[in-house]
Amino acid sequence: MKIVLSVVLAMLIVGCSDEKGTQKSTQESNTPQSVEKVAVKSDVQKVVKKVENTEEKSVAQAVEKTKTVVADVTKKVEESAAKVKESVPVAAATSSVDGAKLFTVCSSCHGAHAEKKALGKSQIMKGWDETKTITALKGYKDGTYGGAMKAVMKGQVTKLSDDDIKALAKYISNL
Ligand code: HEC
Repeated sequence: MKIVLSVVLAMLIVGCSDEKGTQKSTQESNTPQSVEKVAVKSDVQKVVKKVENTEEKSVAQAVEKTKTVVADVTKKVEESAAKVKESVPVAAATSSVDGAKLFTVCSSCHGAHAEKKALGKSQIMKGWDETKTITALKGYKDGTYGGAMKAVMKGQVTKLSDDDIKALAKYISNL
């Protein structure tokens, strides 16, 4: 800001001496005094030019720097967005939020990505397609599916509606 002000001031000064210069040059153009003035004037102009140049340069540098910083930040944001996308299963974005929400209960035994044997007994559900999960869950509900610990799962599924089961199956298929 200071630089801008001083440039404007310098321009005003040059502007004034410009007028004087033209007025006087008609009267006393040949006196050594006016020669001196012209010399001073061109000096001032030089300084102004220099200041302008420096300012232009620093503005250009600042713009360049801002561009790099913005590019950097954009890159970082994109990177972390990609990371978030990777860590959040696609299902969360595409299917109903309910699936993810419902699965938080299941994940305590089956793992956040269905990668665990629940209580050391169940099969690992990761990679199961929707039909397989739906069959199992509905089976636990009506007693037609399950092993030694099916009672545990019956307790889990009795509260689930068909839509809940579908949402869960879809969510699990994308884990
Ligand atoms: C308290 C721990 C626990 C919780 C919570 C739990 N499960 Fe299970 N799950 C088990 C066990 C143990 C089995 C194996 C039961 C058996 O013997 O059939 C199992 C089996 C399953 C199976 C069949 C896998 C197989 O081995 O055939 C599916 C599918 C399943 N669970 C889904 C879910 C879903 C969906 C939820 C959440 C609504 C859930 N589970 C919550 C413990 C749990």
